[in-house]
Amino acid sequence: MSLEISNFAQSIGGSTIVNMRRKADAIARSGIKVIDLGPGEPDFDVPAPVADAAIRAIEAGHSHYIDPRGLAELREQVARFEADQHNLTVDPDQIVITTGTFGALSIVSRAVLNPGDEVIVIEPLWDPYRNVILLTGATPVGVPMPTINGRFVIDADRLAAAVSPRTKAILVNTPWNPTGRVLTRQELIAIADVATERDLWIIVDEVYSEIVFDEAKHISIASLGPEIQRRTIVTTSLSKSFALTGWRIGYCVAPPALSQVLGRLNHYTTRGAASMVQHAAIVALADGMQHVERMRLEYMQRRNIIVSALKQIGGIVCPVPEGGFYAFPEFPENWGDSTRLSDLLLKDSGIIVTPGSDYGTCARHHLRISFATSQEIIQEGLSRLQHALAGRLIGE
Ligand SMILES: Cc1ncc(COP(=O)(O)O)c(C=O)c1O
Repeated sequence: MSLEISNFAQSIGGSTIVNMRRKADAIARSGIKVIDLGPGEPDFDVPAPVADAAIRAIEAGHSHYIDPRGLAELREQVARFEADQHNLTVDPDQIVITTGTFGALSIVSRAVLNPGDEVIVIEPLWDPYRNVILLTGATPVGVPMPTINGRFVIDADRLAAAVSPRTKAILVNTPWNPTGRVLTRQELIAIADVATERDLWIIVDEVYSEIVFDEAKHISIASLGPEIQRRTIVTTSLSKSFALTGWRIGYCVAPPALSQVLGRLNHYTTRGAASMVQHAAIVALADGMQHVERMRLEYMQRRNIIVSALKQIGGIVCPVPEGGFYAFPEFPENWGDSTRLSDLLLKDSGIIVTPGSDYGTCARHHLRISFATSQEIIQEGLSRLQHALAGRLIGE
């Protein structure tokens, strides 16, 4: 017997952004101040009432095992939150509290996928979905979406064409990282039609649901009717909306029979989210919306700074982000591939941005610019970007 590491574990590659941060450390050591426009998490502190609630829960001795589906009081609060914010009517028994969206996706994929199954994933794609699916022995099938004036849109014909006899589910993300899109009712109906016609599960990741701007409105696909709800599993968390990424608290909402299975899977994987964090999540969901709103307004201001600065760079097309905290501008093809461009931007200008290629080849001429960082950092980063790109120092 040899001490082998599993094939799957060996196949997991490192993330580009982690590699870029390593390179950035070397650049910083040489005396250049690096500007990080890569973050995928809020830069805000945990809202004070939520932190206080966690401290109170610790002091009250909430330190024991709890129901692996999550605290009943929290599941009731989630049901109220989904009804109030997303017009989604669910019974608390359909909800399982998880260690963030990752925890939810992990049990949901195990609950519905068998080895050999296929899952349709929509590109540009938040890359971790691939490994979540591969872990179950199923295969992600990437379907690139087209752009209209630089904005990625859902093309349901392409999704339908990718369905095979092995397809089990379509995975949807709205608001959509990295594109900044919030899917419209028509786009969601078009996806739901494909799923209904071909009898597929819809797994929807709504982790950015509270961060939407202007006229955009987050619509929960499960709220579009009973036939859609019976095949939809929502995965989400408090990570982005309440600035709680490190607290690992999220949930999934599933049809009744499936939620029983999800509860058991939660038991035998993570045993659920930490009890004091679940107590704090009750306070966040019940009373925290003014904090969500404060952060949302700040994201919107930062977004506006980025969009107007990018407009001044010839050749770049930047659709106004509708939700989440990323701008996803497209640059001219003759500037090269985004991996090369982001490498040059780091080396020559000390700016970290995420290459669009990380999200699929259809985004190889895009860059993801995060506005989950201060206005000051954004101003500095954008002025360096303008300098590097406006003069076409790169790619010519
Ligand atoms: C689209 C998307 N889904 C899920 C997550 C992970 O969220 P959580 O902290 O809830 O596990 C992220 C984090 O970057 C994300 O961008």
